Amino acid sequence: MAAGHELPDPADFPAGVVTAGPGGTAALGARAAGLLRGGEILLLHGGLGAGKTCFVQGLCRGLDVTAEVVSPTFTLVNTYEGHLRVHHLDFYRLESPDQLPDVGVPDLLDEVADGLAVLAVEWPGPLLGVLGALPRLELLSVPGPRADAREWRLRGRPGPDAAWRALFAPGAAAC
Ligand SMILES: Nc1ncnc2c1ncn2[C@@H]1O[C@H](COP(=O)(O)OP(=O)(O)OP(=O)(O)O)[C@@H](O)[C@H]1O
Ligand SMILES: [Mg+2]
Repeated sequence: MAAGHELPDPADFPAGVVTAGPGGTAALGARAAGLLRGGEILLLHGGLGAGKTCFVQGLCRGLDVTAEVVSPTFTLVNTYEGHLRVHHLDFYRLESPDQLPDVGVPDLLDEVADGLAVLAVEWPGPLLGVLGALPRLELLSVPGPRADAREWRLRGRPGPDAAWRALFAPGAAAC
């Protein structure tokens, strides 16, 4: 794994809900969309193929985004318009946090602070230093007991509210 792409320790998250297959992860994302109000920052942790993009595809579906949602691996930022605006970021290929202004991150953070958009960030390591004390939700995808299972763990600063905790609770409505 490239430098700067270390994953958080799963032990620092409570146990989470297990999805069975990409459809389940997308369904979880769609349900999460129903909890968004605008202004949220979602940090999506997990290794290659963990399902982060799949989750965002579901999130966008839940917001009635009609455009095709594709991985921002090379573009770094893709923006979608639905009931809320979603900026989908992927910093796996970002070489240095110094490049964040080049991809427009300060303006994106201003939009989020004004409640006008949601950020969903894959490989968020380079962003952490500029988030300061901004509230954020963090998801971690952990390999599940079967090849197509992913356990989705949630934490946040401040702590996620009851609706978010219920959605990600172990054994929550099968996805
Ligand atoms: N439960 C699951 N949830 C999500 N994806 C799953 C699941 N089971 C299998 N998969 C497969 O894992 C892959 C997830 O791909 P995805 O692009 O969403 O991962 P990613 O975390 O965004 O990876 P990357 O870091 O490369 O961007 C897909 O090929 C999908 O079919
Ligand atoms: Mg991805």
